[in-house]
Amino acid sequence: MKKQRIFWAVGFFTALVYLISCDNPYDQGRVIYEYHCANCHLSDGAGIGALIPPLKNADYLQENWEQLSCIIKYGLADTILVNGVEFNNPMAAIDELGAVEISNLINYLNHEWNMGNAPFITADGVKEQLEACD
Ligand code: HEC
Repeated sequence: MKKQRIFWAVGFFTALVYLISCDNPYDQGRVIYEYHCANCHLSDGAGIGALIPPLKNADYLQENWEQLSCIIKYGLADTILVNGVEFNNPMAAIDELGAVEISNLINYLNHEWNMGNAPFITADGVKEQLEACD
């Protein structure tokens, strides 16, 4: 009897944690951002002077959000103009992230920092973007 109660209590608690974590779809994206991106682009997305471009309100990102999965997965080594400043330090690929993680990360960025007209993206949407990388 007692064991059964513990069983139900554990089950209830697990379901509750699951519901709470589903309640905020941006949490996983935030954790991934802090771990994989914030050391360069900073926690507030402001970038670092002429070395690292900003992500927050970045015109480049607003115009190229369809490329974001590719930038994350394969890096970027180009001369780019972001909000009028030229950047040409390469960004290394972060290829350990899967489609679900990338979609959570992109939705987090979109939610936090204005990526223009970028829609909510699913893991399948990320896979489609990755298939189209050049
Ligand atoms: C080691 C430093 C570093 C890390 C870590 C890093 N980036 Fe970058 N990122 C750069 C640099 C440098 C550029 C400029 C690349 C160029 O000029 O070709 C850049 C460019 C970009 C751009 C295009 C320019 C812009 O500002 O819109 C995006 C988008 C971007 N990074 C997103 C990310 C995301 C998302 C992550 C985490 C998954 C990440 N970066 C991790 C250094 C980094």
